[in-house]
Amino acid sequence: MNIAIVGATGNVGRKILEVLELKKFPINQLYLVASAKSAGKKIIFNGKDYEVYNLETFDFSKVQISFFSAGGKISEQYAVKAAKYSTVIDNSSYYRMDPDVPLIVPEVNSQDLKNYKKKNIIANSNCSVIPLVVALKPLHDLYNIKRIVASTYQSVSGAGKLPMDELLSQTKDFFENKELSSKYFTKQIAFNAIPHIDSFLDDGYTKEEQKMHDEVKKILDSKIKITSTSVRIPVLVSHAVSVNVEFHKKYKLNEVRDVLNTSPGCKVIDEHKNGGYITPAEAENKFETFISRIREDSSQDNSINLWIVSDNLLKGAALNAVEIAEVLIKKN
Ligand SMILES: NC(=O)c1ccc[n+]([C@@H]2O[C@H](COP(=O)([O-])OP(=O)(O)OC[C@H]3O[C@@H](n4cnc5c(N)ncnc54)[C@H](OP(=O)(O)O)[C@@H]3O)[C@@H](O)[C@H]2O)c1
Repeated sequence: MNIAIVGATGNVGRKILEVLELKKFPINQLYLVASAKSAGKKIIFNGKDYEVYNLETFDFSKVQISFFSAGGKISEQYAVKAAKYSTVIDNSSYYRMDPDVPLIVPEVNSQDLKNYKKKNIIANSNCSVIPLVVALKPLHDLYNIKRIVASTYQSVSGAGKLPMDELLSQTKDFFENKELSSKYFTKQIAFNAIPHIDSFLDDGYTKEEQKMHDEVKKILDSKIKITSTSVRIPVLVSHAVSVNVEFHKKYKLNEVRDVLNTSPGCKVIDEHKNGGYITPAEAENKFETFISRIREDSSQDNSINLWIVSDNLLKGAALNAVEIAEVLIKKN
């Protein structure tokens, strides 16, 4: 395979490189692509230096799979051009709701890949949606989900590498008694929680929340009712979702635990004692979607509460994208 990574210098791009290296992905030629300001820089992959190319002048005709992780505007501008020659796996939200673009989480809906050739573009889902559907798919198959209420606790790496630096510099300034300045977040992010991710819509929800509603329906089932609140928290990596799920059918708590423990990509850590649960810091650099705090919701029939955590740069982005490429290679 000849592979291009557009956005190779960013958080997700670098993780894609790590995952390709770890998985010993079959690569013939590797092309790293970013903005003009990064052109000529070197990035090490498998112990070898690779030069970064300028996207504006990059020739996609020599590539078979292009990973895009440079934001929606870049995908809008360049993905179709790249898709003339290569299959594009896009991490941005730009193509996710396009009816001619499959939105794929391999454990959940790889059967939807069948139509990818319409545009030769495959979309990677949102970083909070991926772990949510990985954990909920086996339960939906068993008990048929009626309604989801989700609250996310999202790390700053979800916003990119510069916002991560903002958390670190605000933390430093806080301890040095300096005034905190915010550029990438709307309010102070250090020692705080911000109930606002992406822009506001007319109905008072944010785009990030709307993405969750739309993408869960597209991937899992359009009949599911869903509402959510997305919150940015001062954690560097890994997103968590506290979720209340109402089923159409009766469930057994032990069965939920057993099914989740044996479902692809899932790992249950759920001991009812101090520390018997997963936290974002522990999920960093792990491939699994972790599920903790599995409890009956006694306030409503057929309902449970779950705490779901995964590394947003891995399963929430890079790992899922590489897994899509693996399924593609297997299918073809
Ligand atoms: N972070 C997450 O958890 C996550 C999860 C799922 C999806 N995503 C999506 O993945 C994409 C990248 O996110 P990220 O967190 O990796 O962002 P990031 O750390 O800010 O990196 C952005 C990347 O895009 C490149 N880029 C920016 N402007 C460009 C241009 N004009 N031409 C070519 N390349 C350009 C940057 O290159 P330079 O270094 O040259 O500027 C850099 O490689 C976004 O669409 C994001 O929504 C992110």
